[in-house]
Amino acid sequence: MATPRSTLTLWRVAVFCIALAPLLYWSYQVALNAAGPEPGRYLLLNIGQGTLWMLFATLSLTPLGKLTRWKGFALIRRQLGLWTLAYAVAHLLCYALFILGLDLSRLGSEIVRRPYIIVGMLALLGLVAMGVTSNRASMRRLGKRWKTLHKLVYLVLALGLLHFFWVVRADLGEWSLYAAIGAGLMLLRLPPVARQLPRLRQQVKRERRQPG
Ligand code: HEM
Repeated sequence: MATPRSTLTLWRVAVFCIALAPLLYWSYQVALNAAGPEPGRYLLLNIGQGTLWMLFATLSLTPLGKLTRWKGFALIRRQLGLWTLAYAVAHLLCYALFILGLDLSRLGSEIVRRPYIIVGMLALLGLVAMGVTSNRASMRRLGKRWKTLHKLVYLVLALGLLHFFWVVRADLGEWSLYAAIGAGLMLLRLPPVARQLPRLRQQVKRERRQPG
């Protein structure tokens, strides 16, 4: 099923608007003084969670492609992956600006006090490595190693969840939801499960065709 160029452009514009909207909304809340007593922390925490949502959205594209056989999902994967990186960088900038007050000499003592920052940094490094090699030239240059490198996304997901766990370990209610979504997305990639996805589509199609 080929995707017309105009449909794809429309999808890309929609992805751009949907990905940008939360950042604009949170900034608007800050501008309205509706972001609580610590607007900087409000931005940091929301954008941190937003990074995980972007990662989930990126990881859901392959199973969705298998389920629907629509190639468009694969074509917006790079765009969403880069949005994940953009969110992670914005999260880091909030940390540097609102928590460190741009005083990078505090980073050493901060890391001792909050070691989960190292985990976040490792996750960000993984995203940067994938972001800078997400173009066609790197694909050609790296050949088979490109796929291996981009398996880093699973490590990034694990590190992101660990980082989140460490921050909220006193109350794991919300974290459990994120961990369940992450585990579900990994489950869908296991070969025996992934093989079932196109079959599921065929089954739904057959049932639709059958009258009654
Ligand atoms: C250089 C990289 C990073 C740094 C310095 C960093 C730093 C932080 C800090 C300081 C907090 C808030 C802790 C608190 O106030 O109690 C936080 C929370 C969080 N970060 Fe990061 N982080 C980084 C990367 C990441 C990445 C790559 C992800 C996602 C993949 C992420 C997801 C989160 C989440 C989900 C939270 C918790 C939000 C909440 O409690 O509502 N962070 N991070």
